[in-house]
Amino acid sequence: MISQLVFHHNMAMSSSFLLLLLHLLLLSLQHSILRAISSSNVYIVYMGERRHYDSQLIQDSHHEVLSTLLGSQEAARASILYSYKHGFSGFAAVLSQSQAKAIADFPGVIRVVPNRILNVHTTRSWDFLQLKSEIIDGILSRSQSGDGSIIGVLDTGIWPESESFNDDGMGEVPSRWNGVCQEGEEFNSSNCNRKIIGARWYIKGYEAEFGKLNTSGSIEFLSPRDAVGHGTHTSSTAAGALVGNASFMGLAQGLARGGASAARLAIYKVCWSTGGCSSADLLAAFDDAIFDGVDVLSVSLGSAPPLSPYIEDTLAIGSFHAVAKGIPVVCSGGNSGPYSQTVINTAPWIITVAASTIDRAFPTAITLGNNQTIVGQALLTEKHVDKFYPIVYGESIASNDSDEDKARSCDVGSLNATLARGKVVLCFQSQSQRLAFVATRTVTKVKGVGVIFAQLPKKDVASTPGVPCIHVDFTIGTHVLEYIRSTRNPVVRFSLTKTSLGRQISPEVAFFSSRGPSSLSPSVLKPDIAAPGVNILASWSPASPSSSIHQHKVPPLKFKIESGTSMSCPHISAIVALLKSMHPNWSPAAIKSALVTTASTKDEYGQSIVAEGSPHKQADPFEYGGGHVDPNKSADPGLIYDMGITDHVRFLCLMGYNDSAVSLMTKHPTVCHETSKSLADLNLPSISIPELKKSLTVSRTVTNVGPVNSVYSVRVKSPPGVIVQVEPPVLSFNSTAKKLTFKVIFHSQLRVQGRYSFGYLSWEDGGHVVRIPLIVRAVIDDFYADT
Ligand SMILES: *[C@@H]1O[C@H](CO)[C@@H](O)[C@H](O)[C@H]1NC(C)=O
Ligand SMILES: *[C@@H]1O[C@H](CO)[C@@H](O)[C@H](O)[C@H]1NC(C)=O
Ligand SMILES: *[C@@H]1O[C@H](CO)[C@@H](O)[C@H](O)[C@H]1NC(C)=O
Ligand SMILES: *[C@@H]1O[C@H](CO)[C@@H](O)[C@H](O)[C@H]1NC(C)=O
Ligand SMILES: *[C@@H]1O[C@H](CO)[C@@H](O)[C@H](O)[C@H]1NC(C)=O
Ligand SMILES: *[C@@H]1O[C@H](CO)[C@@H](O)[C@H](O)[C@H]1NC(C)=O
Ligand SMILES: *[C@@H]1O[C@H](CO)[C@@H](O)[C@H](O)[C@H]1NC(C)=O
Ligand SMILES: *[C@@H]1O[C@H](CO)[C@@H](O)[C@H](O)[C@H]1NC(C)=O
Ligand SMILES: *[C@@H]1O[C@H](CO)[C@@H](O)[C@H](O)[C@H]1NC(C)=O
Repeated sequence: MISQLVFHHNMAMSSSFLLLLLHLLLLSLQHSILRAISSSNVYIVYMGERRHYDSQLIQDSHHEVLSTLLGSQEAARASILYSYKHGFSGFAAVLSQSQAKAIADFPGVIRVVPNRILNVHTTRSWDFLQLKSEIIDGILSRSQSGDGSIIGVLDTGIWPESESFNDDGMGEVPSRWNGVCQEGEEFNSSNCNRKIIGARWYIKGYEAEFGKLNTSGSIEFLSPRDAVGHGTHTSSTAAGALVGNASFMGLAQGLARGGASAARLAIYKVCWSTGGCSSADLLAAFDDAIFDGVDVLSVSLGSAPPLSPYIEDTLAIGSFHAVAKGIPVVCSGGNSGPYSQTVINTAPWIITVAASTIDRAFPTAITLGNNQTIVGQALLTEKHVDKFYPIVYGESIASNDSDEDKARSCDVGSLNATLARGKVVLCFQSQSQRLAFVATRTVTKVKGVGVIFAQLPKKDVASTPGVPCIHVDFTIGTHVLEYIRSTRNPVVRFSLTKTSLGRQISPEVAFFSSRGPSSLSPSVLKPDIAAPGVNILASWSPASPSSSIHQHKVPPLKFKIESGTSMSCPHISAIVALLKSMHPNWSPAAIKSALVTTASTKDEYGQSIVAEGSPHKQADPFEYGGGHVDPNKSADPGLIYDMGITDHVRFLCLMGYNDSAVSLMTKHPTVCHETSKSLADLNLPSISIPELKKSLTVSRTVTNVGPVNSVYSVRVKSPPGVIVQVEPPVLSFNSTAKKLTFKVIFHSQLRVQGRYSFGYLSWEDGGHVVRIPLIVRAVIDDFYADT
């Protein structure tokens, strides 16, 4: 079965999207050919408990199982792709469907899962988060910028020559590090240093599915070297060194640095420019990262909805094993917003990140022929500026074999080349054509000179390949249209884009950021937290096809502005690395709790954070989880909602997975016991009750990580329509009472089928405010009854 893995940068706006689309097309073509010529495929075989600690013995046992099935040692060697040894025992192999069926019945084999192709669906940001290096009492100095922490990045690899990865002033590689610097095409051991302390690459699963990687059509390196740019961007955002005077062709100029600039990087290249990441490869990378000794894993990818059961989702399985070893896993929540129930990577042991805007904007002036000036957003640096061009409305230059509706949004092939040539075209987003890059491509094709794209107000801009494109909202678009209609020879002139700082209200939740609730487990609030993910400047791969789009006069791009939850994910990974440096013994759940309970729901001006797409209402936990990350506060959360692996096992049992499925996750025979507890009792830093009938009592346990003798009182803002009581209302901690349990009782007041409503519960000791979101939907028993 093939699902698709998506990088979570906002491809709708990205210049590399076109290329990706093309790759996907080729990929599916290539794939169906492959399917036709061979029924052979890749399967992941999960074995039981690891019986040996010697990894050679484990590997031998995998070979033995395969040899028995296939009849010979040679056939087994040819078939096996990976032997997983560290997180759990199992292997990936090329098997026919009937062989896969047969092996499932072998003793010791717990489950056989087909490989999936997880489909390829800064500067300012750190200052904005108040992580200025000059602040000496903040989290940066207390954690020494993450010194000692190792961040593992599962992505498209790295461009090691980027200045972000220089290791000036860094100490010896920690002696506990077990990783390697795996050589390959244009990558040898001297490409690793004290910053990039490990690099590996994984392609066996990908090639077993699609055949040998053909690099002649596009650039790719059979090595950890990044041909896409995505992995270089996320790695430098997380742990890039300080680079002065970084910019994207002069825009967003300033000091570029990663959030944990003293942390080390371990690179695991699992995604390929030719089309995605194979789950067999991804699992191998998780396995190695656990063995290598990373402290945090940053994973800016995933499969688009519908969500697979956690017991079949490689990312959920790999991260479960990492978390069991104390390694927090941070994932992007997806770019399918602003629609409800689109969030992905929703397992409770993962930290799932939403994207927010920052206070940096790229205003670009448009002067109309009547001397009026209006302002849009773009990344215009040189071409086609400061000269008047005729402007025309897309609808009025429809190609005679298209229709006006399509031409209004400049949909593919909708414009008449004779009439568009040499002109700027005004296009309006429509229900069926929502993307500025599609309009840009259309106008470029008919030899227009520019696009003004009117769309729902949002702040992410991208350097689209082709003619310059300026984003405006519908009001400004309508104004331009009135101007066009008011004069015989309408003309416009674009000015160079300026970089504006601190002049727009922020943060807001990004338009594209996927929203909760989780469609798989709505009682686990997702996303967990929001972090900057809009117009983020970070290092880029000069080999990337989207670098050469600008190649006219400019040298290949070294830095690029990108938007997506892919960009917000490494921001959180960096903060997790800082927290790990300060609190090495905190569990992944404790770290998540610290982030969530200290997050902010107010913007810089003290007003409630709103979301692009619904800008006139307060954002809610389905948009930002606990809120917008506050790195400094997260270092000292006061109380922690902790969880261990037994809690996660209870979650799997409550999800209804059977013993054998749960055993696969835990690596040893596990029996689910009947329990009176519900999913709502999981000790998460949130309480989410998707179906509240009359009343429900939920319990939570908090651990004091602040001053030993602390007294906290509760404060509750009940979700509308629900009465909330907390017992006891005061918690007194001392040297013996470090962990205390409380009950939260919810009573529904509604006598009709309800909507989700939101509130919060906080424990306050006069200094700390430990806040968790409350999410409740009241339901009535007889809603479906025929009355
Ligand atoms: C960071 O937190 C510490 C203690 O939690 C506080 O003393 C300090 O003022 C904070 N710094 C900033 C810049 O908020
Ligand atoms: C790695 O490659 C570079 C450039 O090709 C070369 O100069 C260097 O000697 C190589 N280093 C090793 C250790 O092979
Ligand atoms: C690789 O791709 C190129 C074009 O992209 C094609 O001409 C060539 O035949 C391909 N090679 C193989 C081995 O498939
Ligand atoms: C910074 O970079 C810009 C071009 O990107 C260049 O014009 C300028 O001289 C540089 N400034 C410094 C101080 O290096
Ligand atoms: C626009 O302004 C310029 C000088 O700034 C002036 O020469 C021109 O006549 C003005 N055009 C209109 C239509 O007002
Ligand atoms: C484009 O417009 C020109 C001029 O009006 C017309 O002659 C031509 O047929 C049109 N072509 C298409 C494909 O619409
Ligand atoms: C569109 O215009 C082209 C070029 O003038 C002409 O060949 C074609 O027949 C026209 N198509 C329609 C549907 O009118
Ligand atoms: C456990 O559940 C899986 C599906 O999730 C199923 O394939 C398997 O047969 C079940 N095992 C038992 C023993 O019921
Ligand atoms: C700690 O608090 C508990 C009740 O919360 C109390 O029973 C116990 O005596 C206290 N212990 C100390 C050492 O104060």
